Amino acid sequence: MSAIEPPVQRLWWKQPLDRAELLWIVIALVWCLILFFMMPYWHLYGKQNLANEAYRESPDEYAKKTEAMVAKYKVREEGGDLKVPVVHPPAGGDAYLIARLWSWYPILELEAGKTYRLHLMSMDYLHGFSLQPENINIEVLPGYDHVITVTPTHPGAYGIVCNEYCGIGHSTMTNKLYVVK
Ligand code: CUA
Repeated sequence: MSAIEPPVQRLWWKQPLDRAELLWIVIALVWCLILFFMMPYWHLYGKQNLANEAYRESPDEYAKKTEAMVAKYKVREEGGDLKVPVVHPPAGGDAYLIARLWSWYPILELEAGKTYRLHLMSMDYLHGFSLQPENINIEVLPGYDHVITVTPTHPGAYGIVCNEYCGIGHSTMTNKLYVVK
């Protein structure tokens, strides 16, 4: 039998399985099962796979919550002509971040060793939250409040870049995230 010619025996699936074929099927199945159970294992005992939740919400509602947080916890402003507020939300609380063409808003300042619920939503199209140099990557969609529970451990200034191509300004869609002691 060849891959080009039609099979000689039309009911080819009724031919007995070769031993080598069976062996490979068993090996592939066992490997699939190992990887399948490694996913929850890594989630619970490894340092991979963030615990995240997602909720449907309108971008307008989300923007209101973000503005309320900015108004309450703004500590300073940064930037040139376009000032961006730096917000220090209470430890253990909610931190909101907006993605839109082509910026992130606001700049968040978190405390090391404290746990936050970091919310992410896009106001328009698909963007990608990529925290550097930690390399945490999350898709950010409009209409979904994506919540990650995070505990930053190392103080410093981190970079946020957009890692989903979103148009002409994609490469300029960057921001900072501060972790303080
Ligand atoms: Cu936003 Cu690319």
